[in-house]
Amino acid sequence: MVTIASPIDLESEIRRLKAERNAIILAHNYQVGPIQDIADYVGDSLGLSYKAKETEAEVIAFCGVHFMAETAKIINPQKTVVLPDKDAGCSLEESCPGPALAKYLEEHAEKNYYVIAYINCSAAVKALSDVICTSGNAVKIVESVPQDRNILFVPDQNLGAWVMEKTGRKMDLWQGACYVHVEFTRDSIHGIKEDHPDAVVVAHPECTYAVRMLADEVCSTEKMVHFCRDTPSRDIIVVTESGMLHRLRKEAPGKNLIAGPTDRCSCSDCRFMKMNTMEKLHDCLLHLKPEITLDEETRKRAEAPILRMLELSK
Ligand code: 13P
Ligand code: SF4
Repeated sequence: MVTIASPIDLESEIRRLKAERNAIILAHNYQVGPIQDIADYVGDSLGLSYKAKETEAEVIAFCGVHFMAETAKIINPQKTVVLPDKDAGCSLEESCPGPALAKYLEEHAEKNYYVIAYINCSAAVKALSDVICTSGNAVKIVESVPQDRNILFVPDQNLGAWVMEKTGRKMDLWQGACYVHVEFTRDSIHGIKEDHPDAVVVAHPECTYAVRMLADEVCSTEKMVHFCRDTPSRDIIVVTESGMLHRLRKEAPGKNLIAGPTDRCSCSDCRFMKMNTMEKLHDCLLHLKPEITLDEETRKRAEAPILRMLELSK
């Protein structure tokens, strides 16, 4: 790793390398503050996918987790896509390995499933799916499926259950979960509501039913920005990963944004999202590594359901 003298040097070196490489920096809402501040675009999985598809830069430095950078490579294969830390995974992706899904589909062939995969999954899982969704468009995607089809929703059981509540559509759910969002509990959210009786609660749909029931709004991270700006309430309890607070403080100044606590901690960090640092972003722009690569057959099969999603959610 290259050692840069001060944060100022590091920032200007990143900017210099970005220009030299003709790179764009895309960052998810859960990234650390300095990465969000230097990024060209900060957003949720859906917004990041659109940006990755339309960019004319030669290099995409993707500050998020592996499946997000992989999605960028799938839909824009001519670009060099780098991820500051190659080990930045996701517990949802881990919960649904491609071979396990292939076996399940084979064993339940009589169901002729229409497979909807939440974008938090590997290319191998996307390649076995009919359409992809994000938390920002899941309701719309599910509503687009013909009524006579059996739906298998993978891998997040909580997002899947929330979409069933919203649409009334029955689906079979893969039993995966986000290890960060299931840490929020009914008691931890009740406790913080007692401390802030006038606060409204906004929660991510990866939270459990018990937590979603306590929320005034359940939505994707990008929609949280709009909710926080638009709600007349000043106090807002934000029940999602802690990086979101940085984005919200910039976008909704004047609001009192309160991190949703877990039973153990006053906020909740995703250890995968937090693997990316400014130093690693610098190094990946310098060396163009770690680079995302994919075999062409898997890439092509994974691309079709993502393009279907982008078309359906326009
Ligand atoms: P969003 O698409 O809502 O940003 O969610 C991504 C994610 O990983 C949530 O844990
Ligand atoms: Fe995956 Fe959860 Fe981290 Fe999002 S917060 S990247 S779903 S582990």
